[in-house]
Amino acid sequence: MEIINIRSDTQTLPSAGMLDAILHAQLGDDTYGEDPTVKEFEKLAAEMVGMEAALLVLSGNMGNLTALMAHGNPGDEVILDPDSHIFYYEVGGLANIAGLMPMPVPSHQGMIDPEELAGKIRKPNLHYPECRLLCLENTHNRSGGRVVPLQLHNELCQVAREHGLAVHLDGARIFNAAAAAGVRASDFTENVDSIQVCLTKGLGCPLGSFVAGSKEFIGKVDRARKRLGGGMRQAGVIAAAGIYALQNNVERLREDHQRARRLAEMINGLPGLSVDMETVESNMVYIDHSESGMSTSELTSRLKESGVIVSTRPPHHIRMCTNLHHDDGTIEEVVDRVKKVLCKEEVLA
Ligand SMILES: Cc1ncc(COP(=O)(O)O)c(C=O)c1O
Repeated sequence: MEIINIRSDTQTLPSAGMLDAILHAQLGDDTYGEDPTVKEFEKLAAEMVGMEAALLVLSGNMGNLTALMAHGNPGDEVILDPDSHIFYYEVGGLANIAGLMPMPVPSHQGMIDPEELAGKIRKPNLHYPECRLLCLENTHNRSGGRVVPLQLHNELCQVAREHGLAVHLDGARIFNAAAAAGVRASDFTENVDSIQVCLTKGLGCPLGSFVAGSKEFIGKVDRARKRLGGGMRQAGVIAAAGIYALQNNVERLREDHQRARRLAEMINGLPGLSVDMETVESNMVYIDHSESGMSTSELTSRLKESGVIVSTRPPHHIRMCTNLHHDDGTIEEVVDRVKKVLCKEEVLA
């Protein structure tokens, strides 16, 4: 039985074309600024998100953390959604490494309300930390890959600007957001100071992310990266994969979105399972199994026994996420196997 791993867009293996690009990359010592492939990658990456400069980093987590370190001084306040990746999944690095003080502003399925945001920004006062930064995330992972519309995104940036805050965008999946919104990635960066973009999600690289911003800002991110032990040597092996991904794997993200939609439609019709179709805007499908009589871990293990690997969002959801290894046949096969699990459990008579 072929195992279908539909847990995340991080589960991809490099394609033959990507491995070939790595094999033929020209290399040098990046800490000396002498790796031509890294330079080429950083130029292309900055162009693709409409920023002045970019820096290759090892992971999305490192990209966000180095950007936060470059934006604020220990003790400063940063406003962010408690469901954001930076707050929820990054080991508290913003507090225990960057030394920043989080001020949570909850989003509604990934959407922060501009008025609620404005209400949370306090006027300077001896008793308060200095509020420096707003962090946004697009697509928004924990809400099911939802796309924050460009207009709302710009309104939030505007509120931040009016209060003298900088804006950092966790754009781990910014090319998904742009594809789904029908705009350019650079439209989302027009009003932000920095962005972090992952190469390891839908773009299919084995590792790497980049941070982009002004030249001066990227200089600070470079120092933060070095401080964290993220300075690299012949990093062209990573950058070559990044160049390949930016040139070959951005346009095709639309296919992942179409397949996620198809998957959601087919699963939504099955007894015991439902999908809030409004939330399926990019490559993720959050499936509510509360009517199936199975717990999240029971359903996940039954699916695993039938060769389908998914991720869990307990207590009521599992997540499926399409990626470049999936074709239309994969989606049909996943739905077939889900049906068989439901039959076995007698949810589907
Ligand atoms: C929105 C978002 N930001 C940042 C990251 C962190 O990326 P990495 O796993 O490369 O550290 C992820 C990873 O899933 C993510 O979904």
